[in-house]
Amino acid sequence: MLIRPRRLRQNDAIRSLVRETTLSKNDLIYPLFVVEGENIKSEIASMPGVFHFSIDTYLLELDEVVTLGIKAVLLFGIPEHKDELGTMGYNDKGIVQQAVRESKKCYPNLMIITDVCLCEYTSNGHCGLVLDGEILNDESLELLSKTAISHAKAGADIVAPSDMMDGRIMHMREALDLAGFKNTAILSYSVKYASAFYGPFREAAQSAPAFGDRKSHQMDPANVREAVKEALLDIEEGADMLMVKPALSYLDVIKAVKEKTNLPLCAYNVSGEYSMVKAASQNGWIDEKKIVMEIMLSIKRAGADTIITYHAKDVARYLDGEKE
Ligand code: PBG
Repeated sequence: MLIRPRRLRQNDAIRSLVRETTLSKNDLIYPLFVVEGENIKSEIASMPGVFHFSIDTYLLELDEVVTLGIKAVLLFGIPEHKDELGTMGYNDKGIVQQAVRESKKCYPNLMIITDVCLCEYTSNGHCGLVLDGEILNDESLELLSKTAISHAKAGADIVAPSDMMDGRIMHMREALDLAGFKNTAILSYSVKYASAFYGPFREAAQSAPAFGDRKSHQMDPANVREAVKEALLDIEEGADMLMVKPALSYLDVIKAVKEKTNLPLCAYNVSGEYSMVKAASQNGWIDEKKIVMEIMLSIKRAGADTIITYHAKDVARYLDGEKE
């Protein structure tokens, strides 16, 4: 007897009935870049459709985000002043802190996640303190935790450390609890690779390292067992959610981490992944909508529960279109 898998693909109704993976607006986290100043909305050259916003234009953008039904944003701040200690990262008047406070005033129900790292704030673009060319681990933890507390104080719901120092989740959890922020959740960039896919972001955040690279703290793209080890360590240290980053070249990693852990798992569809799609689409080489939706689905199929993506607003619109 001939087995006929095509029976279940005959029409749209039956295909939806047997569909194994779904995508919804609840899965989306939209990254945003805030800068100091007023009335600024300037497009990032390498990321078409992504902008630097001053607080005023940022709030207008949030209005659109909320109206589209997106429930969470990830904030990055680009300060005017950078120094070796990344002091603007943990200054209560810093750009992210201001943005968080204003967001919470205007949109109390929107989840505000903040990226916690020093690289946007240090003059040398490194994720931690540097001494004689070495990125110091333990000495950086204090500054990272201070940054997280300052974000929590401003009203952040979730802090997302992306620095990849050892022991930062434990340090940050204890520091947050001690400061009275026991309800602030930690989304750990647990599995973050030293990837060339962050190129456009570093232009956006003006955070490319002035010397050296990030290979002494971010992971080697060749490793997957180590990804599981990093994720398990973060669970032990008190993380509430885990992340794999980038997403597309690391779908196997998402799957491996999902199988071995039980926390909500987020995947970061990073800047380079976004820019490649945009460039091909602008050239008329691909159907952007279909490609984006296929990419989102593949990330979910691999095991991600949520996706941080610069395509989020488009995806929300596409999902609305599907209902028509
Ligand atoms: C570091 C950080 C980076 C990204 C998110 N957080 C850059 C890096 O590690 O160099 C990259 C995000 C993207 O490429 O979209 N704070």
